[in-house]
Formats: sequence, structure tokens, C-alpha cells
Amino acid sequence: MLNIVILAAGKGTRMRSALPKVMHPLSGRPLLEHVLERARELQPDQVQVVVGYQAAFIEAHFSNQNLNFVEQKTQQGTGDAVRQALPGIDPQSIVLILYGDVPLITADTLRKLVSITDDNTLGLLTVDLPTPQGYGRIVRDDNQSITAIVEQKDATTAQLAIHEVNTGVMAVSGRLLHQWLPRLSNDNAQGEYYLTDIIAMAHADGVGIDSIKASSELEVMGINNRQQQAQLERQLQLQTASQLMDDGVTLLDPNRFDCRGTLKAGRDCRIDINCVFEGEVTLGDNVSIGPGCSIKNTIIGDNTVVSANTVIEDSVIERYCQVGPFARIRPGSQLADGVKVGNFVETKKALLGVGSKINHLSYIGDATVGADVNIGAGTITCNYDGANKHQTLIGSGVFIGSNSALVAPLTIGENATVAAGSTVTGNVDASQLVVARQRQRNIDGWKKPKKTKSD
Ligand code: UD1
Ligand code: MG
Repeated sequence: MLNIVILAAGKGTRMRSALPKVMHPLSGRPLLEHVLERARELQPDQVQVVVGYQAAFIEAHFSNQNLNFVEQKTQQGTGDAVRQALPGIDPQSIVLILYGDVPLITADTLRKLVSITDDNTLGLLTVDLPTPQGYGRIVRDDNQSITAIVEQKDATTAQLAIHEVNTGVMAVSGRLLHQWLPRLSNDNAQGEYYLTDIIAMAHADGVGIDSIKASSELEVMGINNRQQQAQLERQLQLQTASQLMDDGVTLLDPNRFDCRGTLKAGRDCRIDINCVFEGEVTLGDNVSIGPGCSIKNTIIGDNTVVSANTVIEDSVIERYCQVGPFARIRPGSQLADGVKVGNFVETKKALLGVGSKINHLSYIGDATVGADVNIGAGTITCNYDGANKHQTLIGSGVFIGSNSALVAPLTIGENATVAAGSTVTGNVDASQLVVARQRQRNIDGWKKPKKTKSD
């Protein structure tokens, strides 16, 4: 039986934030969510999260997940934190203790740690750090057996020279926690109940202490300030970038790539610098994304080119499309094969049929557009009357002249033509020409106004 306890009660003072530390994002998701995801990979029987600072806020955020929250009212140390979870811990279980602010821990390492732990052996995850400042040091005897963990502030000069440190992650039987935690004392430099003091208790009680080393410094790095947050963010992004390149995607600069979600890409996709992908994004084969694009929850088909500085959200773009530069494709847009949407065009809930073009400076919202429609520059669907939204239906083969206002609800039949500068308020039948603008007047002999003399 596996119990996981995640410590997340700390405020995170050094973040200097109104948000509790574990709610700060890494690749778009709270730190705690990363830890929970790793925890779930181990299929534990129970997950308990110890919360304190802004407990209600954290609980509300994760309310739809099957978690047990326990509250630590005052933060009196890691040992005190685990003690809050004790009533929910079965003595028969193995308890894996994680930190809510160490987000890149891998399930592999956790599995290894659990596998070396049993009812009478405690498992410790340690790491060797060139600069161990601030960490608890792992004290070993002449036989290399671990005898204690000494916190930085309580350590002797000799102990401070130890480079092997406690990552904070450990696994121990529930039975032993029930024995040891009530016996912790806060008689130490920080006046706290240290979880790490159970190591010396284990040694004294003849309980085995086994350890494994973290596979990298990165996976046990905690976040205490914004610098560390930025560092881990970049490291995580580099991992994602590297995986994409392994999978055959060209990234023009993996240092300037951000994915805050999941990006799936087919063969020979090319992603220029400074793009941000959020949510679930899927690219087909041979898709090219220009520099500075922001793409969220979107599917893009084979051979489509998205040019620089385009923003796309909750949309589907099919094959051989050309989008941007500087296009904004808002939620509910669907571009069929071969559609072109050019610069300074905004679409929203717009279905654009095969081969249709909106090349410049338009707003097309709440609209269904057939195939091979040409929408001229400066066309606006006037979809909002101040209270309600209305639909515009444009049949296949329609030509909309530039600077037209299409006042919805409106239907324009197939192959119709709208003259440039029209304000169309009534339906247009198939193949009609509609001219809805003032007739041009040319006045002969026009006298230009003269400048009046000022005195
Ligand atoms: C702890 C370890 C230290 C280890 C280091 C690794 C102890 C006594 N020390 O030190 O050996 O090298 O982590 O980063 O365990 N927390 C609570 N309630 C509390 C106190 C802490 O929930 O009362 C949570 C914090 O939110 C944090 C985690 O426990 O997620 C660690 O606490 P922190 O104060 O950072 O411990 P360190 O002094 O860094
Ligand atoms: Mg810490």
C-alpha cells in the first residue's frame, strides 16, 4: 500500500507574492500540479497534501481531483507538517514524502526509491551538490552507512563540508512514522520539528537506511524565488524542445521556444523563434510556424504556413492554408483546405470554405463562408447590434468588394458580388450585384476655399 504526502504549507516568502508558492506556474501549470502528476504515475492508494498558507485557495483549485487535504495551521517544520497527515496514514503502508515546490522529480526516481523501502528500511533520495549551502547534510559513518541528517544551521564545520545533501524526498513505513513523529523535538537552531530527525531515530532503532542518488540536480531542484523559477522554466522548455527535435521537428532556436501544454507535430515541421504554444496543439506534416506566433488549443493540417506574429486560439486550420503575418484567429474559427487569411484579419466563430481568401484588414465573426469566396480589404461583418450576435452566411464563389459592411443577420447567395464600399443590410440573391453606397456626384467648376487673412 502506497501513501503519498506532499508538503505544500509554506508561504514561499522569497517569491514576494500574493500567490502561495506552489501555485506559481511552471510551463503554464502550478508547481503543485507537476508534483501531483508525478505522484499519480505511481498509482498510490492515497495522496495527502499538507496545506497552510492560503489553504482554501489551493484546495479550491484542485477540488476536482481525488486528493485529501490536511491543514497545518502554523508552519512549525517539515516534521510537524507530516504529523498533520499521520491520522490518515495506515501503519501497513509505505509513505512517500514529496515537496510541492520540487516540480521536476521523475516518476522513475520515485519508483526506485519506493522499491528500496520496506517496513524496516527507510529510503532517502540524496544528491551531490558542488555548493550544498542551505541543505541538510547526509552524515555517514566509516562504513558509509547513513546515521543522521544535519540541517545547515545546526551543522558543525566538518559537517558543512559534506556535499551529499538531503533532497527532502524520502520513503518510510507508516508504522515507523507513527512511532517517530510524536517523539520529534524542536530543540534546534530553527526551533522547528525537523522531519530529518527521524534519520537519527532510525539509526538508533536499528532500522535500515538506504539511499539512492537523484539522476540530476534538476529533478530535485526546489523553487524558492523568481530566479529559480525562471531557471527551471527554461530547463523544462529545453527538455521539451530537445524531445521535439528528436522527433524530427526543426526549431530555429530551442532557447527561444515555449510550450505550456502539449505540442504534437508531424514530420518536417519548422518552428521559428519566440513562439508560444499553450494547451493542446497539433501540427500535421510540413507545417511552418513563423516567428512570434502564439497558438493555443488548435489543430493545424499538413503543409499549412502560419507567418510571423499570428495569434490562434481554439481553432482548426486544415491543409495548405496560409495564415498571417499578423492574423488573429479567435475561438471557433475553422479554415478549410487552402484558405488564406492575411495581415490584420480577425476571425471569430467563422467557418471558411475551401480556397476562400481574406487577404487584408477585415473582421469576420459569426459567419459561414462557402468555397472560393474573396473577401476584400476592410470588410466587416457587423455581427453585434448592441444586444445580440447575428450570423452572416456567404455562399460559395461570392466576391465582396473592399471596405464593405455586412450587417447581420445577412445571407448573400452564391456567386453574388458586393460592390466596394457597400453597407449591405438586406439579403442578396445568388449571382446578383449589390451596390449599397451613395451614387458618385462629380461637380464641375468647383471653387476651392481660400485661406482667410488674419489681422
Ligand atoms: C528541507 C530539509 C533539508 C533539505 C531541504 C531540501 C528539513 C528539516 N530540512 O529544508 O534537509 O536539504 O529541505 O530542499 O526537512 N513545509 C511545510 N510546513 C512546514 C515547513 C515546511 O509544509 O512547517 C514545506 C514547505 O512548503 C516546502 C517543504 O516543506 O515545500 C520544505 O520546507 P523548507 O522550509 O523549504 O525546508 P528547508 O529548510 O529547505
Ligand atoms: Mg527549502
